[in-house]
Amino acid sequence: MKIKNIKLVVFDAYGTCFDVHSTSSLLKKYIGKNWKNFSNLWRTKQLEYSWIRTIMNQYVDFWKITNDALDYTLEVYKKNKIKKKLLNSYKFLKPYSDLELLINFLKKKKIPRYILTNGSSLMIKNLLKNYKMNKDFNKILSVDSIKIYKPSPKVYKIVTNNFKCSPKNILFLSSNCWDIAGAKNFGFRTAWINRKKIKFDKLGFYPDIELQSLNNLRKILT
Ligand code: LAC
Repeated sequence: MKIKNIKLVVFDAYGTCFDVHSTSSLLKKYIGKNWKNFSNLWRTKQLEYSWIRTIMNQYVDFWKITNDALDYTLEVYKKNKIKKKLLNSYKFLKPYSDLELLINFLKKKKIPRYILTNGSSLMIKNLLKNYKMNKDFNKILSVDSIKIYKPSPKVYKIVTNNFKCSPKNILFLSSNCWDIAGAKNFGFRTAWINRKKIKFDKLGFYPDIELQSLNNLRKILT
């Protein structure tokens, strides 16, 4: 399958560019054998809080949500003494190994690259700076500018407010099913990066293409 006439590629950040479970060595040291369940609960609560707060119209930024989700998880695991270390580790989440190759490919093809994220601009700029990736994206678009979280259509509209073209000429990449459904609902072309080979959620919208990594995209984008 080929994807044609793409004028902009938009990346989700957490889970797509950066591995939210990449602080495993720290977690293994302080949480022990249950570190994966701990990390999954932290991420699940982080996303739940973003959705619930949007419905309640009670926005706080993603750093506060990440902090609150960690507080909940630490209470469940009775590990409150290591909060500072774990929260700080979110500033150093590792980029996936397949990201740089795709960025370089898109640079060569002169296709602009945006990030569209629930994260605050500061969170993302810190992450990019820590891995010397500041020049890899043309724009960082954060929900913080409208105080509403994904998958509200208002979030994806931030992109077309910044890049004048039809949503059909924009390719949105995410590993999160609900984010892909939201982007498809808005009208973007979508590639679901299904690294964990899971089933897609039943949300009435499906990705244009499913890939197991960002690497496969280079063969598809023409
Ligand atoms: C992001 C997370 C929620 O928007 O995937 O970066």
